Amino acid sequence: MRKKVIAGNWKMNKLASEASQFVDEVKVKLPQSDKVEAIVCSPFPYLAQLVEKAKGSKLAVAAQTMHYEESGAFTGEVSPEMLADLGVTYVVLGHSERREYYNETDETVNKKVHAAFKHELTPIVCVGETLEQREANETMDHVEMQVTKALEALSEEQVANTIIAYEPIWAIGTGKTATSEQANEVCTHIREVVAKLTSKETASKVIIQYGGSVKPANVDELLAQSDIDGALVGGASLEPASFLQLVEAGA
Ligand code: G3P
Repeated sequence: MRKKVIAGNWKMNKLASEASQFVDEVKVKLPQSDKVEAIVCSPFPYLAQLVEKAKGSKLAVAAQTMHYEESGAFTGEVSPEMLADLGVTYVVLGHSERREYYNETDETVNKKVHAAFKHELTPIVCVGETLEQREANETMDHVEMQVTKALEALSEEQVANTIIAYEPIWAIGTGKTATSEQANEVCTHIREVVAKLTSKETASKVIIQYGGSVKPANVDELLAQSDIDGALVGGASLEPASFLQLVEAGA
């Protein structure tokens, strides 16, 4: 039985005091159930303080991106080792906003996934199609290609421990959620792709999240789908009350 993983991706929002307050409030109210994992994906500057605050609670802390190199002349970048050293345990890779604005490619996502495992960070790999690709019936092929490249040369154990987030780009921050059937159809396809690359058993262990305008009002229906094991949430993760409702839906 796969657990549900609810990750709040704050993107470029919140000041340090707001981030701290959020964690203070949420960590004492999180459901104690082992069926659900709650993660906040914070901007870099707050990671250290949030990891400290979340210690001993059920809340995990993720970074929103990272470099794949160990160290060196990469001004402005943050390495996997730096994140691991702070006690960060998850990292979001290949978010469509990183792909669109910061040249993240399937190749660099794959390098980052390998780098994440090297430093015992769990990667949350984002994939998803544009509206044009959906309308041209290219969703399944596009997502298959992204998943295949992201997982290239990983061991079966690493694949089993990768979280894949299906985020149709047209549903991000638009208020347009994919219907739960549309979302599940692609998540099922992703699991089949993983099975083809590894084995059915490995594929059955992979956590596949849906992301794109998830909110308390639609989360139950999404999480009830056969292949949706959680949510990667932007806007509705910014307020403690709404984040808590999303996590409770998975408990
Ligand atoms: O990573 C989460 C995301 O891109 C979805 O954002 O605001 O539509 O929940 P939102």
